[in-house]
Amino acid sequence: MIKAFVVGHPIAHSRSPMIHGHWLSTLGLDGSYERIDVAPEDFEAFLRSLKAAGFAGGNVTLPHKEAAFAGAEVLTEAARRIGAVNTLSFDGQGRLVGDNTDAAGFTAHLDETLGADWLGADARDVVILGAGGAARAVVAGLLDGPANRIRVANRTRSRSEAIVELDPSRVEAIDWDGLDDALHGARLLVNTTSLGMTGKPPLDIKLDRLPAECAVADIVYSPLQTPLLAAAAVRGHRVVDGLGMLLHQAVPGFERWFGTRPVVTPELRALIVADL
Ligand code: ATR
Repeated sequence: MIKAFVVGHPIAHSRSPMIHGHWLSTLGLDGSYERIDVAPEDFEAFLRSLKAAGFAGGNVTLPHKEAAFAGAEVLTEAARRIGAVNTLSFDGQGRLVGDNTDAAGFTAHLDETLGADWLGADARDVVILGAGGAARAVVAGLLDGPANRIRVANRTRSRSEAIVELDPSRVEAIDWDGLDDALHGARLLVNTTSLGMTGKPPLDIKLDRLPAECAVADIVYSPLQTPLLAAAAVRGHRVVDGLGMLLHQAVPGFERWFGTRPVVTPELRALIVADL
């Protein structure tokens, strides 16, 4: 039996076991996927124990993504760009490989929801709200696509400036106060802050200047329809919810550990939505 895991601290809230468990059972594979709670001070030892424990690999969530980056023996290009690891596996030589599938997960869901030509041919501006780990992954994913200018607005300016380093020719840090002007030319607006999440205040921005063709995405998925997405939908914008990123980021890990590429189906989505 092939074994995989998700490690975090805390880990009870993780929806990854439901996602991978669904794929294991619908594909009829002989595998397991378990949640493991590991405190930060024990994480390094946990990484070293994986091979002997017989794990093929697993997912890494908060607060261990940077520690997994530091502890992996081999890093993928995506992990290096983002500076964090969310997926671990072993290569043919038994080395621990750290990957980050968040960027590809975000763009896969974007393509699926908006169509691969979502940015259109002319204006190619994207506005990102927030500059944490999730913003880094979203920007890294978008840099692989056709966006020619990605503007990042964050409450703490130094963090958006750090994201600019991903590609200073295409990424720009803007002040939160300058958001109105940036929205005017946007083709895609993405919220990567935690605002709008259940229990947090809503994201308080005006959408009046957003062109009708601008799509609005949120990486918050609880609630599925955030106040931002609700306001955008009322104004007729195409919207992209945050759940797709969570589902799509899980695909590459599953394929690597269990040898079969799973599909994000409406049935899987419904299963997770019912649990939100
Ligand atoms: P993650 O790694 O999941 O992105 P994070 O690093 O905590 O999480 O980042 C959360 C993002 O939400 C940050 O951009 C944060 O802004 P700061 O960098 O200024 O902290 C943003 N955020 C959280 N609460 C906010 C608030 N009340 N107003 C504006 N931005 C907020």
